Amino acid sequence: MEQAKLIFRDKEYLLPVHEGSEGEVALDISQLRAQSGAVTYDPGYGNTGACKSSITFIDGDKGILHYRGYPIEELAEKSSFIEVSYLLIHGHLPTVQELEKYKHELVHHSLLHEDMKKMFEGIPSTAHPMGTLATLVAALGAFYDDTTKKSDIDANCIRLMAKMKTIAAFTYKRCIGQPYVYPNNKLSYTADLIHMMYKVPSDQFEVSPLIEEVLDKVLILHADHEQNCSTSTVRMAGSSHANLFATVAAGVGALWGALHGGANQEVLEMLEMIKNDNCDYKKYVNLAKDKNSDFKLMGFGHRVYKNFDPRAKILKASCDKVLAKLGVNDPLLEIAMNLERVALEDPYFVERKLYPNVDFYSGIIYKAIGLPVNMFTVMFALGRVPGWLAQWKEMREEAGQRISRPRQIYTGAVNQKYVPIEQR
Ligand code: CMC
Repeated sequence: MEQAKLIFRDKEYLLPVHEGSEGEVALDISQLRAQSGAVTYDPGYGNTGACKSSITFIDGDKGILHYRGYPIEELAEKSSFIEVSYLLIHGHLPTVQELEKYKHELVHHSLLHEDMKKMFEGIPSTAHPMGTLATLVAALGAFYDDTTKKSDIDANCIRLMAKMKTIAAFTYKRCIGQPYVYPNNKLSYTADLIHMMYKVPSDQFEVSPLIEEVLDKVLILHADHEQNCSTSTVRMAGSSHANLFATVAAGVGALWGALHGGANQEVLEMLEMIKNDNCDYKKYVNLAKDKNSDFKLMGFGHRVYKNFDPRAKILKASCDKVLAKLGVNDPLLEIAMNLERVALEDPYFVERKLYPNVDFYSGIIYKAIGLPVNMFTVMFALGRVPGWLAQWKEMREEAGQRISRPRQIYTGAVNQKYVPIEQR
């Protein structure tokens, strides 16, 4: 096996080298502390490989994203969200029989226990939908508390995939104050999501094929993204063998943040702010470049992609199609295009390789199909469920899986002597 040599305080250490199937290399420092007393230091884990995984491959310099070896462009064009979720969780594309069985199971498990409705009612209707979602996903753990048996992993993955759609749709209905619409077993997963969200009980409702197609694509593009913040959270929480639903609820919490999934809501709010400020996008570009300001161009930049985000490229085309077909002429789009153009030309953005990311276009699509802005991140979460499940399953099925437990470099006070309170 190839080895790397590290010289530290005049001593030599040999570090095993691991190579991935796409040629990525990693130096194995797992024994370094035991041998040398030193840990590695990598705030934000930007250069740390925390696991071996066969699910998703990203080459950020070339703008490549593959699920189980299949290019995202091909999956987005030819597959469906449900087929992709099967691929991610089970490692191969399903046969006709496997897909039929999977769909049947998803339909069969899509109802929520009626008592869960009382939980929705206990949450203020003004709550942010991501708070509601995290609460209700964690609450599943109270209904299905034993998720630790390895033999039940697949059954619990089905359960969460199926119920997440219903929780997302009920969250939306709770947010807009309408009665819940129950799942319709005859509809596809994505069509049923649309039906549960947009149908009003007294009305006839036809799912628009255009909206179904675009939403399905958005879900595919969000389905996994290797060791991002929320997925690493799921792996971290799940590594203690915590309940699956509590584990995924932790991932939902991590996704909510503005630097991660919450960015799609922030993008729309930023575009609205620029529109209300005479569409003066240049002012905000300058603000984003100003080191004395905290303002960032939301929907730009990525920890991994330093060329372009392939998901953003696909979504931009979908965005154009949806707006044209729905006849939407939104001034926000023009602001978005101006920001994109500036980012591709301005040395600040070019030098830092800051390109529009997936959240830049998804928000515009969600707005065009009538979703309230605070629901945007819920859609991201729904799309990310297969990734969270696939990564959790991979970790739980790994031989010798250990609890995640990073080290630190302590920088606090030393040798303190306790002073009684009356003497302080
Ligand atoms: N606007 C202006 N400047 C930026 C931006 C931005 N959106 N993003 C990064 N920079 C600057 C940053 O200030 C730094 O400049 P300098 O080198 O002069 O200090 C440089 O670019 C490198 O940025 P970083 O913060 O070190 O990069 P990171 O890898 O830690 O953060 C990020 C990545 C996505 C959190 C960040 O680019 C960001 O905050 N973007 C806006 C939020 C956003 O759109 N998030 C969604 C990410 S895609 C969905 C997902 O997968 O989660």
